[in-house]
Amino acid sequence: MKSSVPENFESWVASLPKSKGWLQLSPERPYAHAEDGYDAQYGVNAAEPEEGQGLCSLLQIHGVDTQGPALEIGCGTGRLTYGLAQNYPGPDFLITDPSGTFLRLTQRLFEGGGDPSTRLHYAVLNADDLSQLPPDMFSLIAMRSTLHHILKVEEFIAACARTLRPGGSLAMGAEPVESGYILMAAVAQSIAPTLQAAGVDLRPEWKKQLKDFADTVKFYCRRDIDKATAEDKHLFSPTELGDLGAQYGLRLKFLPNATFSDYAPPLLPEFETFSVFFLNYLQYCMLFDAPLLKLIRRHMKSQMKFLDDCYRSHVGPTITGVFLFKKTA
Ligand SMILES: C[S@@+](CC[C@H](N)C(=O)[O-])C[C@H]1O[C@@H](n2cnc3c(N)ncnc32)[C@H](O)[C@@H]1O
Repeated sequence: MKSSVPENFESWVASLPKSKGWLQLSPERPYAHAEDGYDAQYGVNAAEPEEGQGLCSLLQIHGVDTQGPALEIGCGTGRLTYGLAQNYPGPDFLITDPSGTFLRLTQRLFEGGGDPSTRLHYAVLNADDLSQLPPDMFSLIAMRSTLHHILKVEEFIAACARTLRPGGSLAMGAEPVESGYILMAAVAQSIAPTLQAAGVDLRPEWKKQLKDFADTVKFYCRRDIDKATAEDKHLFSPTELGDLGAQYGLRLKFLPNATFSDYAPPLLPEFETFSVFFLNYLQYCMLFDAPLLKLIRRHMKSQMKFLDDCYRSHVGPTITGVFLFKKTA
């Protein structure tokens, strides 16, 4: 009897429907914010290899079997994709996002060459549809800043475990960690009283920026509301994700405050201190304006110095990190 499970990546890809030149695993869905302005907002250049290069070193350090194809979920503008395509040792790399605009932006990175070491394929894919992927197919599922956008985290982890080959890895970078985000929001609670005590008249737009930040973190913390229509959804606890992975045969190595690019030359950690991360977050993610940031830098020095001093000789507080799961054989 003919099996309904394709035997290999090539025959599976050949069996998939195509639209606009992309494989179609899910219906297209645009990102909630302007895709074209994404890199500009975050002050990054996607066409730099460090993220993907660092991830490949990390896979080597942790003895991940990279002989099979790689899958990236939520490629966005290609910040992880670019270096992964140049360094992944396996034969095939399936690059995906629910947004056609993001797929096109990532595809453009390779139009001038981009020097891929592996065959590139592109698909529209929503992570909620991952359970339709064949079992034991991929050696790597890679994501950067994407897990917190996925509605059903447990179903997602279970589907990853199913489609990974034994010895393969689910590697997720730049995910928000609950303890650090709550700490940032708690520090932000004292901004208004500190500025007022220093004689600063708080402008209405500053009050709004502060309230938006507090409301955002509160929203991320909640698990009792429907987040289906929100773009960013969750914060994570490494212990909880570790337990969840273990239920599905995935062993977690959590690297606190690490980024993939820390493992690429010149091997310098990107995370410096609490205060640097906090101020960058307010500027690039919460869009605090320049005059408010200047006041925070001047008047919140003692609160930030306290936190930076507490963690001077070890990593912390944990705000982000790399989650590297390995599927046990
Ligand atoms: C914050 S962006 C990160 C983009 C890119 N990985 C990076 O590091 O710059 C989140 C990405 O996740 C994608 N995304 C959102 N919801 C998703 C879902 N349910 N399944 C797959 N990808 C999703 C978005 O389209 C977007 O590309």
